[in-house]
Amino acid sequence: MFEEVVNRLEENRIQPMASKDTVEFLSLFCEDFMPLNALEIGTLYGYSALFLSKHSKELTCIELDHFNSIQAKNNFLNAGVSNIKLLEGDALKILKKLENKYDLIFIDLAKKYYLDVLKLCLPLLSPRGVIFVDNTISHKDKLKDFFFFVEKSDLFYFELEIGKGLMIISKV
Ligand SMILES: C[S@@+](CC[C@H](N)C(=O)[O-])C[C@H]1O[C@@H](n2cnc3c(N)ncnc32)[C@H](O)[C@@H]1O
Repeated sequence: MFEEVVNRLEENRIQPMASKDTVEFLSLFCEDFMPLNALEIGTLYGYSALFLSKHSKELTCIELDHFNSIQAKNNFLNAGVSNIKLLEGDALKILKKLENKYDLIFIDLAKKYYLDVLKLCLPLLSPRGVIFVDNTISHKDKLKDFFFFVEKSDLFYFELEIGKGLMIISKV
C-alpha cells in the first residue's frame, strides 16, 4: 500500500515535490531521531509527508490548497498511514494557534513565506527540536531576507547539498 502510493507519486512527479534524495534523507534522519511530534508546512499531495510519517509518532501537515489537501488525505488513506493529521488553511494563521511543541519541522511552502513561517516555528520547537528547510539552493535568490535573518541570528544552521538544498536549523 505505502510503496504503491509512493511509486505512483514518483511516476507522476510534479515539479514542486521534494526530491527523492531529500525525502529519503529525512526518513533516515527520523529513523534515528524518532520525533514524537513532527510538523510539515506545505504538503501538496503528501509525498514528503509519507516519508516523514514513517518514523514519527505523530505528523501534523498544513496545506493551503483544498484540492491538494484532498489528494494528500486520499494518499495517506491509500498508503495505510494513520498518524498524520492534515490542517487545511494558511500556515501563517494556523501556526499562531498551535500549542504543541515539535521535535521536527519541515518547511516547504511558497518561498515568499519562508521567513515569516520560520519566525512562527521557532517558538514551537521542542528543546531537542530541529527545522529542515527545503529548496535553499534552488531558490536562494528568492530567499534573501530568509538568509539574512538566519545568518544574523544565533541559531545553528547548516546547508546540506541534498536534493534542491536542505537547510537544518536548531537553537543552540
Ligand atoms: C513545494 S510544495 C510542497 C511539496 C511537498 N512538501 C512534497 O514534497 O510533496 C508547496 C505547497 O505549499 C502550499 N502552500 C503555499 N502557501 C501556503 C501557505 N501560506 N500555507 C500553507 N500551505 C501553503 C502549496 O499549496 C503547495 O502545495
